[in-house]
Amino acid sequence: MLNLRHVSYAFGTYWVLKNLSFQVEPGGFTFLFGPSGAGKTTLLRLLHGSLSLQRGAASVAGFDLASLNRRMVPRLRRTVSVVFQEFKVLPHKTVKENIALPMLVRGIPKAQMERRTNAICRVLRLEKRMHLACRGLSGGEQQRVAIARAVVTNPKLLLSDEPTGNLDEELSTRLLEIFKQFNQFGTTIFLATHNRRLIDLVPQAKVLVLDEGRLEQECG
Ligand SMILES: Nc1ncnc2c1ncn2[C@@H]1O[C@H](COP(=O)(O)OP(=O)(O)O)[C@@H](O)[C@H]1O
Ligand SMILES: [Mg+2]
Repeated sequence: MLNLRHVSYAFGTYWVLKNLSFQVEPGGFTFLFGPSGAGKTTLLRLLHGSLSLQRGAASVAGFDLASLNRRMVPRLRRTVSVVFQEFKVLPHKTVKENIALPMLVRGIPKAQMERRTNAICRVLRLEKRMHLACRGLSGGEQQRVAIARAVVTNPKLLLSDEPTGNLDEELSTRLLEIFKQFNQFGTTIFLATHNRRLIDLVPQAKVLVLDEGRLEQECG
């Protein structure tokens, strides 16, 4: 699902990622663990096509990043979903409209859209919120809407950057349960965090440790 060989990335002359090589198998659950400033967000932005590959080779869900041009980025993003810390739900749209958006973009038939939206709202316990505008929801609820929107299209790969950054312990634990559930349904999960506690919640996960742009070790 992910295959990186000798990937390095610099902002100007400052090398943020240094010679990274690793692989993630389809169906896996992987943490990218490291302190703030380690380069986690930069790596995820590369994998999602919002930064261009400078050095090395990388493929993401079958897309070769070295030959990825602007026109292919939307296709990559239909295969690979992201949930970032600053979850961007559309505040004036309802929960249901926010979740339906990626299906609307893909031209999924209305009846199927309805079915999937209802199902995902059940899983994420948002049924009672479906018709409310997102601006009225709590942070945790908005985060769940962002996750619902990211997984409602059954992405092959879910990239997530500090998804629990703004949540309390209990909600973080619940979110991790939800990620595990989607992982069991077949979505490959790649989750960046500086929070050790999250890693302990998924004992079967693989852990890549990033420090000052270098991959330190693999465990799990
Ligand atoms: N757009 C940018 N321009 C210059 N430096 C950046 C930029 N984005 C990130 N950095 C630097 O790259 C390093 C890694 O940042 P980041 O990938 O955000 O790490 P993390 O997500 O692990 O906290 C930091 O030192 C940060 O200041
Ligand atoms: Mg970051």
